[in-house]
Amino acid sequence: GYWSRLKQTHEENGSHPMTSVTSLTDLVHQRLTDALTSVLPETDGVDPLLRRSDRADFQANGILALAKKAKSNPRELATQVVGNIVTGDVIKDVEVSGPGFLNITISDKAITENLAARYADTERLGVPRKDTPGVTVVDYAQPNVAKEMHVGHLRSAVIGDALRGMLDFTGERTIGRHHIGDWGTQFGMLIQYLFENPGELAPAAEVDGEQAMSNLNRVYKASRAVFDADEEFKERARKRVVALQSGDKETLELWQQFVDESKVYFYSVFEKLDMEIRDEEIVGESAYNEGMPETARLLEEMGVAVRSEGALVVFFDEIRGKDDQPVPLIVQKADGGFGYAASDLTAIRDRVFDLNATTLLYVVDVRQSLHFRMVFETARRAGWLGDEVTAHNMGYGTVLGADGKPFKTREGETVRLEDLLDEAVERATAVVREKAERVGLTEEEIVENGRYVGIGAVKYADLSTSANRDYKFDLDQMVSLNGDTSVYLQYAYARIKSILRKAEGAGPVAHPELELAPAERALGLHLDAFGELLAEATAEYAPHKLAAYLYQLASLYTTFYDQCPVLKADTPAQVENRLFLCDVTARTLHQGMALLGIRTPERL
Ligand code: ARG
Repeated sequence: GYWSRLKQTHEENGSHPMTSVTSLTDLVHQRLTDALTSVLPETDGVDPLLRRSDRADFQANGILALAKKAKSNPRELATQVVGNIVTGDVIKDVEVSGPGFLNITISDKAITENLAARYADTERLGVPRKDTPGVTVVDYAQPNVAKEMHVGHLRSAVIGDALRGMLDFTGERTIGRHHIGDWGTQFGMLIQYLFENPGELAPAAEVDGEQAMSNLNRVYKASRAVFDADEEFKERARKRVVALQSGDKETLELWQQFVDESKVYFYSVFEKLDMEIRDEEIVGESAYNEGMPETARLLEEMGVAVRSEGALVVFFDEIRGKDDQPVPLIVQKADGGFGYAASDLTAIRDRVFDLNATTLLYVVDVRQSLHFRMVFETARRAGWLGDEVTAHNMGYGTVLGADGKPFKTREGETVRLEDLLDEAVERATAVVREKAERVGLTEEEIVENGRYVGIGAVKYADLSTSANRDYKFDLDQMVSLNGDTSVYLQYAYARIKSILRKAEGAGPVAHPELELAPAERALGLHLDAFGELLAEATAEYAPHKLAAYLYQLASLYTTFYDQCPVLKADTPAQVENRLFLCDVTARTLHQGMALLGIRTPERL
């Protein structure tokens, strides 16, 4: 439907004609570069250092450094450059200011024309695709089998999904990998218990997410109790681990039941999060079992890993752990077992050599950053990660409670993710309901909007802070109508839509001949910068920059709306042009929010 189409999967790319629009920043940049080059033909790499500015529309600060290089007077050089800048169409006016800065004013006509060109591109608002897209494998949303998902898993899912949306939109091809924790010695106890108590786990096909998790919890608790109390059971559980590792058929079947039951639960949570997760992208730790012995053999043969007290390990001089102590990476334990590192190293081989990844992106808790540094360095030494492949752990911070301490219930237990989401939706629904009558929403719409507002609030709060920072999970703040929240943005969008509906006879039409008020220019210039902001935020894996852009967009729109009557504007042409500005704003908000994974209801 409409929603997923906005995200533009790779498959849909390429079939569209190029309709990308050169931004005003790029146009001005080109004009200035041309002028600088004609004044200083000998100097190469001239950069006007163009910035948006409050004084004029743009300011160029690059002349100072160039004057120093050319040993000339900066103000004189600036005056010479001004004489060479083509003006009259895009650039209305250039002035020298201070010691040699340039203040540049864009013509109203150019602003409106550029926006009109963006508006004509119904698919992408004139935003270009990357010239040379690569393949990014995004490792995100990786909960653990037979365990409750926690807020950390929420962060990975939300950030990873937003990054994928942004990357896809730039034309990059993304492949998701949900590296779920589905292997390890803890399964010995669980499987042995299920073996001795068949039927304790209802078939996955017969349960919903909540039942699945409660079954898993019950089996976990029961098996734990026997394990702790009964030495003989403990022994049988240990043997079960061996059976699992050696691929015993019956044991694997029981293990599979835990995986399937857990997936029912995962899917229900992801659905609550309004997030699409594909089965073929759930490729957990166990998927790499087969390749792990070879990973170990290759590393040992190459001398990247060495035997130490029976274990196969990699040493690092340059990577230090806590207290500046060197920590080795354990590829294979002394008992022959493989662990987390071996599975990640094998996954790298798969992603680089089979999926042809040019970028490996991991959205994992920052507390695992040492692990990833060691894994990446090992893969580099082994030649699996060449210079042409980038590996990056987008480590995210801890979710804190309103008290600033790691998020826990009053009883000190970790908070269930679903409870949090349910509460967010509940509060959001109350907020929506308050205004529902005035807007004329049906009960069904209230429920649906409550869900979009609640889930949007949780996602936005996460995405609007720089990911490596800890952030406070504060539901009151998240669903607040004022301030930097998704609700604020969703209301801005809905308000614009309501104006467009009320316009009746008139519709959005661009009138480049009209003069623009200051608030219109500010809004227009910001709208025009959507593409470059998006490119920057994507390249830096910084969804918070996109969030900040959208928040500023909504604020500029509010100012515009306060200062410039839309439906009651002076002339019919002005009404149309303002409706046009409204609609470009709406579409930009809608597109930006969709990339972040947040819906914008039409009526709110
Ligand atoms: N399942 C792990 C956890 O809950 C996260 C997996 C991260 N991805 C990876 N390739 N190691 O902590």
